[in-house]
Amino acid sequence: MSRPVTLSSPDSSAERAQPFFGLRMKMHVAARQVEDMLEQILPQPAGLHSRVHEAMRYAIFAGGKRLRPFLVLSCAKLFGVEGSRSLRVAAAIEALHTYSLIHDDLPCMDDDDLRRGRPTTHVAFDEATAVLAGDALLTIAFEILSDPATHPSADVRCRLVAELAKAAGSAGMVGGQMIDMLAAEQPLGYNETVVLQRMKTGALFEFCCEAGAILAQASPDDHDRLRNYARDFGLLFQITDDLLDAVGTVESAGKAVAKDQQQGKATLVSILGVAGARQEASRLAQRAGASLEPYGADADDLRDLPLFLIDRDA
Ligand code: IPE
Ligand code: IPE
Ligand code: MG
Ligand code: MG
Ligand code: MG
Repeated sequence: MSRPVTLSSPDSSAERAQPFFGLRMKMHVAARQVEDMLEQILPQPAGLHSRVHEAMRYAIFAGGKRLRPFLVLSCAKLFGVEGSRSLRVAAAIEALHTYSLIHDDLPCMDDDDLRRGRPTTHVAFDEATAVLAGDALLTIAFEILSDPATHPSADVRCRLVAELAKAAGSAGMVGGQMIDMLAAEQPLGYNETVVLQRMKTGALFEFCCEAGAILAQASPDDHDRLRNYARDFGLLFQITDDLLDAVGTVESAGKAVAKDQQQGKATLVSILGVAGARQEASRLAQRAGASLEPYGADADDLRDLPLFLIDRDA
């Protein structure tokens, strides 16, 4: 079986000399922090329905890059938001993201057996349990956001709930997943594929970045800058995921590869080719970084992150 996909703590001097060492360390620390928060928040297996709790925990504590939490924390830090508040939002988005992975892997969707280096939830448990664990991770995200511990202002909590609902629903991720499934029967062009990727993947990233501005009750200009960054980041991220499918290995990705073409998935890699998709990702990384110019060196990690992801192997 493949190793779980985690960002390990690099400790040798050779690792320290690798590019993006500082960024990787910060991502590692953020990942452990959000895992501690999720450990506190997710229900312990109990009661007649303990099986659903076990499946929720199985899917969440299987590693994963915890990229969305890192974005929430990094964007919130630009405005000096209190750490415990942004960590709760980070935990909410990771729960919701994990639901999307459980459902994405189901036999009726991408039909995958391996996720984060382990059997997918429906393989380790069964389909009904996987659907229910996904449902419970989706709904707990809103429970976390609406709790006064996330922010003392009810207006802020309400805005977080509304924005995440829009990002995750039929105008965002779910709509994108619908187009993704339909595209197997009806090939899409460049513009339609961009719409699909912005919806299925980009919408959640937009929420992650904007959440920092919402928590800080920041200015409309701040919201715009973070949304612009996230729009480019989200598209870039899905391009790098599709590159992983085209040129990556199961061992490092911790999930199946070389399936997108076989399943007729609409991707920018199939339209632009591997080299063209890489070029497009570099262009998006530059433009994303430029959106954050007013934050100067405070946004260095956010500018480095897309560059780091272009060459990822997990
Ligand atoms: C995979 O997301 C699903 C996509 C949106 C492409 P990640 O690559 O962030 O998955 P984990 O959380 O690290 O497992
Ligand atoms: C899934 O995209 C995006 C989601 C909304 C979950 P993919 O189907 O390409 O993600 P992987 O490759 O299975 O992680
Ligand atoms: Mg999919
Ligand atoms: Mg998939
Ligand atoms: Mg993929």
